[in-house]
Amino acid sequence: MVDDGMENSIEELNSRFPGSSLRFVQGKNGLVCCRISNAFGKANVYLQGAHVVSYCPHGKDEVLWMSPESMFEPGRAIRGGIPICWPWFGPHPGDNRFPQHGFARTCPWAVRAVLDTDHSTELFLGLLDDEHSRRFLDGRFDARYRVSVGSELTVELSVTNTGTDPLRSVGCALHSYFAIGDVTKAYVEGLEDIEFLDKLSGQKVTQSGRIAISDEVDRVYSAAPDPIRLIDNVKERMILVSSQGSQSTVVWNPWIEKSKRMTDFPDDGYQSMTCIETANALKDVRTIQPGDTHVIAQTIRLADLSGYEPGKK
Ligand code: BG6
Repeated sequence: MVDDGMENSIEELNSRFPGSSLRFVQGKNGLVCCRISNAFGKANVYLQGAHVVSYCPHGKDEVLWMSPESMFEPGRAIRGGIPICWPWFGPHPGDNRFPQHGFARTCPWAVRAVLDTDHSTELFLGLLDDEHSRRFLDGRFDARYRVSVGSELTVELSVTNTGTDPLRSVGCALHSYFAIGDVTKAYVEGLEDIEFLDKLSGQKVTQSGRIAISDEVDRVYSAAPDPIRLIDNVKERMILVSSQGSQSTVVWNPWIEKSKRMTDFPDDGYQSMTCIETANALKDVRTIQPGDTHVIAQTIRLADLSGYEPGKK
């Protein structure tokens, strides 16, 4: 069962949400997938984890990176696309038996609504607290996720505290994996002069210049400038990432050894991906008071490199 008292059966979903731009199908390993296709592009969203696994504006190459070795197993995180890390980022701060990056990415989400507008198709998913969530988080919540597919992609997580006590230290990451031609010919721009925690050394460092990736990178930057640009000199495009409700950004590339250690990740996968995550991490975790809502969002769009000058917005 998923929350809202509805089964995620494909037949029932297609009859509840008829429409030409969207269809529910059986995805990999039998998991339910929502296929969106409209005048602007295409996207696939798995209900497990409310997980966007593909986004492709018309006439362009795929924007998100997906691991060909992702298992798509019920209850197991999908590797690639946009996992939702919530209600904590990384290891649980108090109990290392709890799953890394929270439970939202492995739960089945309910479909609440679908909306076609002039410039996008919007899918609204929901997750409520239940017995499972209360094993990890002592509180009540209503989490809503909006996936808006147009000439840009927006994912927006809104969490309302429906209980009587504050939800404290709530962490999050919209953990986008971006597809790039060759990591050694790509750069991340926009985070210059910002302090970051290097999770590998435990040191705080200030970013000097744009980020070139030539080794494992696992960093939490203490700001979310708008936009961050992922420059791809092979695909001759840039991916622009804008964040809302966030004051922290994670940049991650596992590089050679960690790629080998991950069972659902190809050994050479690090060459064609990099994550830029809109986060609420470290000091940016949030307290949500009873009745209050916290909204965090990421918008992704493509631009070509014509007229692009390194370091210039
Ligand atoms: C990143 C973290 O956000 O996610 C890394 O900063 C972590 O430390 C990576 O390795 C992947 O996490 P997971 O749980 O999906 O393997």
